Amino acid sequence: MNFKHTICSAIILSLCLFSASCSDDPDPVAPTPLTDDEIITRTFGDAIELENLANYANQNVPRYIRKNNSAAMPITDAGATLGRVLFYDKQLSVDNTISCASCHKQALAFGDDDRASVGVNGNTPRHSMRLLNVRFADEVQFFWDERAPSLEAQTTTPIQDHIEMGFSGEGGDPNLDDALAKIAALGYYQVLFNFVYGDSIVTEQRVQSALSQFVRSIQSFDSRYDEGRAQAAGELEPFTNFTALENLGKQLFVAPPALDTEGVRIAGGLACAGCHRAPEFDIDPEMQNNGVIATIAGTGTDLTVTRAPTLRNVVRADGTGNGGLMHTGDFDLDAVLDHYNRISDEGNTNLDNRLASMGNPQQLLLTPAEREAVIAFLKTLAGQDLYTNEIWSDPFGPMP
Ligand code: HEC
Ligand code: HEC
Repeated sequence: MNFKHTICSAIILSLCLFSASCSDDPDPVAPTPLTDDEIITRTFGDAIELENLANYANQNVPRYIRKNNSAAMPITDAGATLGRVLFYDKQLSVDNTISCASCHKQALAFGDDDRASVGVNGNTPRHSMRLLNVRFADEVQFFWDERAPSLEAQTTTPIQDHIEMGFSGEGGDPNLDDALAKIAALGYYQVLFNFVYGDSIVTEQRVQSALSQFVRSIQSFDSRYDEGRAQAAGELEPFTNFTALENLGKQLFVAPPALDTEGVRIAGGLACAGCHRAPEFDIDPEMQNNGVIATIAGTGTDLTVTRAPTLRNVVRADGTGNGGLMHTGDFDLDAVLDHYNRISDEGNTNLDNRLASMGNPQQLLLTPAEREAVIAFLKTLAGQDLYTNEIWSDPFGPMP
């Protein structure tokens, strides 16, 4: 506890004494100023200890993971800790009902099991996206349609979205400055911003940086795929820890098909990895759509979806879902394979040419055994730790 912190806490407490919200103070006549640690402990119990931060900055990354889109954006333990608090804080929404974690649930690999997620003013028009391994990728643009130019820019858009968190500044909504002022008035943020940035000023750029550090810190490399990949010389070699079925699935996922001029597969694999690139399973940044062009609402078309989250943890290791798949949220793995097995280009002016031959959309003619193999392989991409590791859990306590 240094002098500056004591003064700061004293100011916070005296402000607090004049506000009705602190009327339950046990002894308002002779208050002892709360220390920073006490303010943090009162809010977060032992979930956050400023003197003993969780490790976000130096997590183990396997040697075969080479992609990193954030080398210039380092993660610090303090910054990611602040980001964790912001991520789980319902105060970021106009009516204190919705946090980032309402739609990005740790138990679902930071995705959602609702097709359309519920925000403060209705439902999102697209399905929520799993958030993990976002930095182990070449793509630096975010959202299904890549409309956010960076993760930093992405993180404050939900706050300013009328449907999601409601600080849009339009149609009677308060605006982002109101959200920042609301955050700045909370005692635990005065401590945390001061701890991270040296003063307690809350700016959009600081909120973006902290949220991005937290989101970037979410990683998953404890899958059976990783166990096999760590021992293998390369992607194509059979993994010794895989069943024959899983190795066949891996082979099919990676190897390109031979399509005839009608788009019909006459030999080879399925070339999934041409777009979902092993070993990160990140999406190729140069991409048109994959033929899924419906909307959740069922009206119109959605031709601009050119991104997918990493396929790691697309389902859990036991095959149970982390919510529906694709931007429409209504696919399971069987439906995904049905889709790629016979792509339709009806009404689609933006189909990626990797899914067609001479303009004819692909037909993979998957056998039941091939289908089973690919699904078995996709299950090997799921880790365990992500779903429960406390460093990514709710610091305010479990969600009700
Ligand atoms: C009401 C639900 C909801 C809330 C609240 C919400 N999100 Fe999302 N999030 C979504 C949906 C839906 C998408 C996909 C939207 C799209 O692409 O059009 C998404 C996409 C994202 C992405 C893009 C992921 C990728 O791989 O491109 C990131 C990152 C993200 N959200 C982070 C956050 C953060 C940080 C917050 C809190 C400040 C937050 N979200 C709040 C529903 C929500
Ligand atoms: C031409 C590039 C391309 C190829 C080839 C491709 N995909 Fe995709 N994939 C995408 C895009 C883009 C999306 C996001 C589409 C959407 O949500 O509308 C996607 C989405 C998915 C999803 C859902 C991800 C999620 O988080 O909801 C799965 C699973 C998937 N693909 C599996 C496969 C498999 C298996 C193959 C091979 C049979 C394959 N993909 C081939 C581009 C491709």
